[in-house]
Amino acid sequence: MGMRILVVGGGGREHALVWKLAQSPKVGTLFCAPGNAGTATLAEPVPAADLKELVAAATRLRADLVVVGPEAPLAAGLADRLTEAGVPVFGPTAAAARIESSKAWAKEVMAEAGVPTARAVIVDRLDAARDALEDFAFPMVVKADGLAAGKGVVIAESRADAEAALTSMLLDRTFGAAGGRVVLEEHLTGREVSVLALTDGETVLPLPPACDYKRAYDNDRGPNTGGMGAYAPVPVMDGALLQTVIGSILEPTVRALTARSTPLRGVLYAGLMLNANGPQVLEFNARFGDPETQVVLPLLDADLTGLLAAVAAGDLKAVPPQPPPTSAAVGVVLAAGGYPGQYQTGLPIEGLEDVPEDALVFHAGTQLDDYGRVLTAGGRVLTVVGRGTNLAAARDRAYAGADAISFPDLQLRRDIALREIMPQ
Ligand SMILES: Nc1ncnc2c1ncn2[C@@H]1O[C@H](COP(=O)(O)OP(=O)(O)O)[C@@H](O)[C@H]1O
Ligand SMILES: [Mg+2]
Repeated sequence: MGMRILVVGGGGREHALVWKLAQSPKVGTLFCAPGNAGTATLAEPVPAADLKELVAAATRLRADLVVVGPEAPLAAGLADRLTEAGVPVFGPTAAAARIESSKAWAKEVMAEAGVPTARAVIVDRLDAARDALEDFAFPMVVKADGLAAGKGVVIAESRADAEAALTSMLLDRTFGAAGGRVVLEEHLTGREVSVLALTDGETVLPLPPACDYKRAYDNDRGPNTGGMGAYAPVPVMDGALLQTVIGSILEPTVRALTARSTPLRGVLYAGLMLNANGPQVLEFNARFGDPETQVVLPLLDADLTGLLAAVAAGDLKAVPPQPPPTSAAVGVVLAAGGYPGQYQTGLPIEGLEDVPEDALVFHAGTQLDDYGRVLTAGGRVLTVVGRGTNLAAARDRAYAGADAISFPDLQLRRDIALREIMPQ
């Protein structure tokens, strides 16, 4: 009898998780709550509106493992409740997920662990914030403490910018309680790289490093999005640099969380800036990144089911270290026109069957209509992932796949991974 695994979430990240889990001989039945038209080909859809229904579904389905994708249910305590109900879970407790859900607390943990990060001051009152601004040069960075769906960070070019951001967060409460505290931070320059590692609170197992693209348009113009593309691995993050990240960032952070009796079991995702002083932490997340996961998992030779089950069981030390990837992956997001602003849904998607065999298509905002046709159902609709022996080959396959697909007003970036291929 194979394992019964419930994946929580309904985006491209969850389709990639389901796709990789499905390759495992250990897996019997997969479920996805709520899932999308892509996950539905591999995992039974499970409707569940809130934490209570998710826990009830996991129990009813006799899940041997629940894998939680998004940050919100983790911060709300889904992993805690599943553990109480006796269901093994991949994903941290709410207390450990604070490393993502409170940027101020993350700074405290980093300071305690001696982890390199931008100098910061934490404030919760406007007058104190104004005083603290005296000690910053511009640009500087203003960050809402809590979860703000990628909208809570302002790079302030001037004192006026900073004061406007502070007023909006602390006074107008644009982000609600998430902006009741604010982190003021020194601005760092350099290359941004993400390193996602699996951890059971003791052992750290890094996955291939990745770069993602957050702005809507080419050359990093336009508004911030959930992510318009990604690639992995990252050539600048060589073996030696990755060892530095493990030794100076990932391991000390994992140890500090465990020492505080809030061990993190799941993903520790370090958003890094590489500068002359070495890798600096911009932020931590406590879950798989999206779209990074969609390019990282296809590079993994290991059985993901075994890895995630080992994390849930606190037995990651029994897993051998992963060899560096022997191939590369590039993912291009196909988004609805207008995203991240207003956009239409319910549009028919054409050409999915024309995508060449060597590209992967992960669904995000899609749904099936009554006739089994795939319609758009969100801002980020699909990700096309190309794999190859190097980033150039992977990129060609990703765009060949993307160009086979169409829907009205489709929007995509043309420059994903281009910096690694052309000198700019
Ligand atoms: N100290 C910093 N210096 C320069 N850029 C930063 C700094 N902190 C954040 N950023 C930029 O802002 C983006 C978002 O910040 P981050 O801390 O990752 O918050 P979130 O992902 O929750 O919005 C980063 O990806 C980075 O590009
Ligand atoms: Mg970030």
